Amino acid sequence: MARKAGLGWIEWARGWLSIISEFLFQRIVASHVENPLPVPPMDGATCIVTGATSGIGLEIARQLAESGAHVVMAVRRPKLAHDLIQKWQSEKGDLGILLNIEVMELDLLSLESVVKFAEAFNARQAPLHAIINNAGIFSIGEPQKFSKDGYEEHMQVNHLAPALLSMLLVPSLLRGSPSRIINVNSVMHFVGYVDSEDMNLTSGKTKYCSLLGYSNSKLAQVKFSSMLHKRIPPEAGISVVCASPGIVHTNVARDLPKIIVAAYHFIPYFIFNAQEGSRSTLFAASDPQVPEYCQVLKGDEWPTCAYLNYDCRPTNASEEAHNLETTQQVWDKTLELIGLPRDALEKLIAGEEVACRYQPKKASIDD
Ligand SMILES: NC(=O)c1ccc[n+]([C@@H]2O[C@H](COP(=O)([O-])OP(=O)(O)OC[C@H]3O[C@@H](n4cnc5c(N)ncnc54)[C@H](OP(=O)(O)O)[C@@H]3O)[C@@H](O)[C@H]2O)c1
Repeated sequence: MARKAGLGWIEWARGWLSIISEFLFQRIVASHVENPLPVPPMDGATCIVTGATSGIGLEIARQLAESGAHVVMAVRRPKLAHDLIQKWQSEKGDLGILLNIEVMELDLLSLESVVKFAEAFNARQAPLHAIINNAGIFSIGEPQKFSKDGYEEHMQVNHLAPALLSMLLVPSLLRGSPSRIINVNSVMHFVGYVDSEDMNLTSGKTKYCSLLGYSNSKLAQVKFSSMLHKRIPPEAGISVVCASPGIVHTNVARDLPKIIVAAYHFIPYFIFNAQEGSRSTLFAASDPQVPEYCQVLKGDEWPTCAYLNYDCRPTNASEEAHNLETTQQVWDKTLELIGLPRDALEKLIAGEEVACRYQPKKASIDD
């Protein structure tokens, strides 16, 4: 596989070493973490979980709801989410427990859908305690595809749309403060490199492959989150965390060739199941010490946001994630691509309205 433009050979090789080590040793490294993770009572907390119909997101939503949280499943297939809720309610109903869980439609391949979702949620004027950006795609081996907004699909679903969602939900997160923005990231960001002038990988400088699309989108997410973490004033009380779930057996591998999927089933020892893969994110969403840890990082002028490893311990993001110059460039370019002004965050924190280019058009009397 060709080394990506922009990442030095040593860094690239180190990145692959991190990925291989995670695959080989994650079960040993995380052997001290209980499964399922004991989640403290979450009564009174409202959490949005994107991509809650499958894999890690499904586990996160179910376990948060079982811990007493009000969970909003933000999904592109509402019928599937309603069926899941019905199943969970009937399982828990036997124990006399009623889960507080609902469904809202969200398609990350449409930035207009993101704006609609955020507007509908903010209109409730209710506190939000955690937005969990879990939904993601890895279209392994597929040709390059673009959303209707014109962006490379991995970049849109894994980075741009969650970034817009987190920004637009700031008013609700302020109402829920102390609150958290949690991004389900990946060790694959270690082999990513983001050229802010070529986030869609269309310039021809780097040849597209799905692995590049995926790893770049995950690195872009760490960089944007790091700048968000730096820019949110401590008194706003919004913590920003990236969490790596480990290498997990979910539907994310559905596009793998059949032979590799079959091999996947023969290596269950190494690979986490979805419940094991949900632990670091659940920890990020519920552990009482996480906000304090994020505040310490702010004081230290540490260049990245908090990054939790699959064993729920803080770890270092990749070397490239620490590059403040490219992080600033990714922040600026992301705001431009998601249609927000440069001072959007500051305005939202000050309680001012911010217009987004992807605002759905209001129906006029003539329509
Ligand atoms: N599995 C791993 O080894 C691994 C490792 C590192 C990081 N991760 C990350 O973990 C997260 C969860 O992935 P997973 O492994 O649980 O995969 P998964 O089983 O495929 O679940 C992905 C979820 O995202 C949703 N989704 C995809 N495209 C969407 C869109 N356009 N709008 C709204 N929702 C959309 C899917 O909905 P549909 O069911 O409707 O498609 C599904 O609910 C991802 O961010 C992934 O990158 C996974």
